[in-house]
Amino acid sequence: MSVHILDAMAREGFEEVVALHDRRSGLRGFLGIHDSVRGPAFGGIRRWTYRDEREALLDLLRLARAMTRKAALLDLPAGGGKIVLVERDGIDWPAAYRYLGSHLEGMGGRFFAGPDLATGPEELAEVARATRYVTDPSDAGPGELAESTAEGVFRGMAAALRALDGEESFERATVVVQGLGAVGMGVARRLAQRGARVLAADLESERVELAEREFGAVPLEAGHALGTPCDIFAPCALGGHLHDLTVQRLRCRAVVGAANNVLARPLVGDRLHARGVLYAPDFIVNSGALVRGSIFHLEGRREPVGAIGARIEAVLEAVLARAKEEDAPPARVAATLADDRIDAWRAL
Ligand code: NAI
Repeated sequence: MSVHILDAMAREGFEEVVALHDRRSGLRGFLGIHDSVRGPAFGGIRRWTYRDEREALLDLLRLARAMTRKAALLDLPAGGGKIVLVERDGIDWPAAYRYLGSHLEGMGGRFFAGPDLATGPEELAEVARATRYVTDPSDAGPGELAESTAEGVFRGMAAALRALDGEESFERATVVVQGLGAVGMGVARRLAQRGARVLAADLESERVELAEREFGAVPLEAGHALGTPCDIFAPCALGGHLHDLTVQRLRCRAVVGAANNVLARPLVGDRLHARGVLYAPDFIVNSGALVRGSIFHLEGRREPVGAIGARIEAVLEAVLARAKEEDAPPARVAATLADDRIDAWRAL
């Protein structure tokens, strides 16, 4: 099935989608700016093995729009964007990242790129050789991006517990953390420090062993994470894990995690709500890196991680209160709030 890209852009309110191809390195990909009315677009560089161009484009559109929503809800003077690069054989990746850097430089600061899947400090350093408009992974950059995200997710859990129990009952909570990467490990550590029982799963057993050794996490097989009874299920691996089939297997009271686009489609959020499971919208709780990165680039200062967590917690708390008042799924409430705010900016 093909994508009617212009129709899709009009439907989602996109400003720009650029197809990228570099003859020398073999790079192929797309760069999208969803919105830049409030400020330059911020978005990560995702390198992934896509089935076809359609899948890559749809991923780009969903992720870029979510970035604008994060910026809107957190009231940042920034917009949303994304870059997706197609993983395949024979690409000279260092050269490809430098090419991307020169492309961003040519955009003159309308797009600031950051990390995402398969694009970490090493790759960003290559991009940074050709542009200023990228997260500098060295000490000169914003730093603590994943820690900012972890803090936001953790504080999101505190708001979720208060909404469920009227108090921040970490000591009585069991939390399943799916994915112990840069963010998941930070979330799990914070939970353990606050006395929660942490059940942890990762495809890489060394990561689970590290969590067990370091702060007493209970190992869980990756395949069992979703169906294990717990208070909070924290998806911190890949997005799209909750769809019509998997959602039936959940045995938790709340879902609060870092993965982007956890819900395969909005209807899954409605089903969670109908089942009485509180879903904390990913585009609120995982916005820590965007807050830290955009404030650093636009205001030249490093917002403390604790302050970022408090800001995210306050936004989530307001959304959950409104969702309760309207008996509506929090993801819908948050999306409407964000989109209304974006429409208001555009009208100005
Ligand atoms: P990461 O790549 O460091 O960690 C992901 C971890 O998940 C890896 O350890 C991997 O082995 C594990 N994993 C993959 N599939 C799994 C499965 N089926 N079951 C259990 N474990 C599995 O990624 P990072 O940076 O920790 O990000 C996690 C998620 O949060 C990603 O979806 C990312 O897009 C999202 N995110 C990250 C932000 C950041 O600041 N790093 C910001 C916003 C969103």
